[in-house]
Amino acid sequence: MIPESFIQELLNRVDIVDVIDKNVALKKAGANYSACCPFHNEKSPSFTVSPSKQFYHCFGCGAHGTAVGFLMEYQGLSFIESIHELARLVGMTVPQETRDPDKPTAKIVVGLQESLQHAAQYYKEALKKSDRAIDYLKGRGLSGQVAAKFQVGYAPAGWQNLQSIFPQYDNEALTVAGLVVENEQGKRYDRFRDRIMFPIHDQKGQVIGFGGRVINPEDTPKYYNSPETPLFQKGHELYGLFLARRAIRDVGRVLVVEGYMDVVALAQYGIEYAVAALGTATTPSHITKLMRQTDEIVFCFDGDNAGLTAAWRAAMNALPALTDGLKLSFLFLPKEHDPDSYVREFGKEKFEAEIKLAMPLSQYILMHLSADNPLQSQEDKVRFLNDAEPIMQQISAPRSAMYLRKKVAELAQLSIDEMQSLLKLPNLNKAPVQAKPKLTRTTNSLHKRFCLTMLMHPELAEKADLLWIVGNSNNELLLQKTIETCLEHPHSKPVVIMRALENKIDATLMRELERELNVLDETLDLAQELAGARQQLKQAYLQKNESELLAKISEKPLSAMTEGERELLKSFGSKPKSK
Ligand code: GTP
Ligand code: MN
Repeated sequence: MIPESFIQELLNRVDIVDVIDKNVALKKAGANYSACCPFHNEKSPSFTVSPSKQFYHCFGCGAHGTAVGFLMEYQGLSFIESIHELARLVGMTVPQETRDPDKPTAKIVVGLQESLQHAAQYYKEALKKSDRAIDYLKGRGLSGQVAAKFQVGYAPAGWQNLQSIFPQYDNEALTVAGLVVENEQGKRYDRFRDRIMFPIHDQKGQVIGFGGRVINPEDTPKYYNSPETPLFQKGHELYGLFLARRAIRDVGRVLVVEGYMDVVALAQYGIEYAVAALGTATTPSHITKLMRQTDEIVFCFDGDNAGLTAAWRAAMNALPALTDGLKLSFLFLPKEHDPDSYVREFGKEKFEAEIKLAMPLSQYILMHLSADNPLQSQEDKVRFLNDAEPIMQQISAPRSAMYLRKKVAELAQLSIDEMQSLLKLPNLNKAPVQAKPKLTRTTNSLHKRFCLTMLMHPELAEKADLLWIVGNSNNELLLQKTIETCLEHPHSKPVVIMRALENKIDATLMRELERELNVLDETLDLAQELAGARQQLKQAYLQKNESELLAKISEKPLSAMTEGERELLKSFGSKPKSK
């Protein structure tokens, strides 16, 4: 756990404009900055970044968030990773989460990163010097441009080439990074020899590993990957994701293929939104990672038997990650093809036409389950139900789950109720459909306006008069908490106060407030707004609680009254007391 106080300080120090500008070029537009939205496709800019609020907001698609949120959404980083990245940008040190003090992880990770980067550079240079490697790549139809884009390189033949760039060839970082192997006799040699090298990047674009392909078809294995390291976990990384990010956003879709060469060849033919799992099955973590970038995933595996097995495995691994907003489908190529050979033979248009026809997950599941089951006899149907049960158990997206159940029941010739009473399936009604807390919406906008202006000027909270805000409706609570929080953070940016508010007030209310903050026109005279809102609030309050309030105040001696109370008493002095 990173301490909350650190996160708040970080958010105060970071400038969201710098953070976003590093990823998406921003233009100054009045008090704000703008750009074409990186989260949806558009021609004229409706994405704005507010330096005073420290939020971004897209008027087109509604995307919005903080600098942390931006890195999570745009770069696909986790929350913790985003915090680390921001801290790095402003030169703050994230307080260490408690961790085994004996493990110098951080130090070795830095060593790994540098070594890998250095090696990638070396392999790239070596490719330029090897006609044989260049000819191989040309023979596979790659242009120099695409090879450069993917930073394809070449590890020359020979046992200790890396010694030329790593004078300390016995450094442990090289072994941990998987660049150097040590045999039982303690002899050290390069892991990759006479291979085409595909660097694997993490989501920040840093090299975390390699895949190496033989040139000589006699050599084995055909592909050789870096081992798992603290930086590189195969179940979490996808080859090509860093480079494909932009295209995935633009077309709103990601294509998952099997091989390095598939990704590269597709890019060569203009399909730049492909990624590959690294010689492992697609994991739920892969799916979750991709879902942060897009809501349409198309799996395209080779047409051979291995491809079919991999496709089914991917489908099964996707089940727990399914949501009703996700479109998942499967494209099966003809037996003799993989994406590389297919796109080379038929081109981009035909390939994309095939993508459009890809089979939806639900249909694929049903097809697979009934492939070797004629569903004739009672026994067939029982087997079908048995096979379908564990699959249905894993889907918790309510709508997708319900439609699949209906289909399965139909095929098994049961009513859906009969089937549900027979099988152990999660209760979809109880699925986490968010309970909506009831909201009083009366003086809504007034209270909110008060809050919003105060968020922009927390230093004014001192002047805000808590006297008018003694009720306990949602809005009054919101206002009280906002004032309270502003008093605690009089010099913080809105983004920090919002964060501090987050665990004090209802989530729905919080979201509404955030939405309104995002569209708040900063060119208004906010101090004046505040005064106006305060006045109106006071009026509304007095109308409602006049007598009660007056009774309460009149019990006090004059000297103990606040200025506001005196003011109040004066303005009501002439009126007769009721009740
Ligand atoms: P090309 O023959 O270069 O077109 O490669 P491909 O991608 O068509 O190869 P294939 O379909 O055989 O393999 C798909 C992916 O599986 C590769 O990109 C590798 O990640 C992985 N792979 C293939 N062969 C091996 C191997 O021998 N060892 C390991 N570790 N991985 C392999
Ligand atoms: Mn291939």
